[in-house]
Amino acid sequence: MGERDRGSSSAAGRAAWLWELRRQNERQEDVADTANEPYWQETDDAHRVSFDRLLSMLPPGGSVLDAACGIGRHVGAVLASGRSVTAVDASAVYLAKTHASFPDVTIEKHDLQDLPYRDRFDAVVCVDAMEFVPPEDWPRVLGRFRDALHRPGRLYITVELVPPEEIRSMNDAARGSGLPVVDGEVMWEASDESPGYYHYYPGLDQVRAWLSGAGFAILDELEGPWHDGEYAYHHILARTTM
Ligand SMILES: C[S@@+](CC[C@H](N)C(=O)[O-])C[C@H]1O[C@@H](n2cnc3c(N)ncnc32)[C@H](O)[C@@H]1O
Repeated sequence: MGERDRGSSSAAGRAAWLWELRRQNERQEDVADTANEPYWQETDDAHRVSFDRLLSMLPPGGSVLDAACGIGRHVGAVLASGRSVTAVDASAVYLAKTHASFPDVTIEKHDLQDLPYRDRFDAVVCVDAMEFVPPEDWPRVLGRFRDALHRPGRLYITVELVPPEEIRSMNDAARGSGLPVVDGEVMWEASDESPGYYHYYPGLDQVRAWLSGAGFAILDELEGPWHDGEYAYHHILARTTM
């Protein structure tokens, strides 16, 4: 096998691995105990401030796509502001829970990578979910967000932060166990019994470059509180430029 063949077969192997991880994550989310996990019952000031800022920029009666909505943790705040919501997620179970809480919200099952919308919304929000997107999919996902937006359109995304030494150590562990990871990719809670769950941690300069390449100008950035020093979210508000 020549170098090129080896390269393409390892690229195909990585693509197959990433696809299986996406489906595995969907299965894990479908059985998650959202009623008892504190994450789903709470939100912090940085998320609230960012949502308020975003909503202050939207036309009255505007429309918001909640991309990777989970069980609709942020839907109530958007509806209370007088905007309509379309809620999308990979997990059918989460979408059903969102529908149970907010029967008037349109729910649709899509992967972030395959959002089908064109010129439909005043804003796209993708909160606490971009860490599930591998590096090769970031430009595609941001392009789908841009295509979904009216002009001008607004975007609110979060980027999960973890201390760099922890990312490096978990990335080394994943590579050492033979997984086809690239820098920044980790498997949380992997064990002999469980493959764990995938996250990718891009550098913020890389995120800014991807946003610019996808046709977004950053309006505001805010680093959220660190939770016991373990993780935080970097909040980015942006507008369309093309
Ligand atoms: C941590 S939850 C956050 C949910 C919600 N945005 C919130 O802030 O409560 C991450 C969500 O991303 C969804 N998700 C992960 N990867 C996805 C993908 N590729 N396409 C669509 N949804 C995805 C999961 O199903 C889950 O609902």
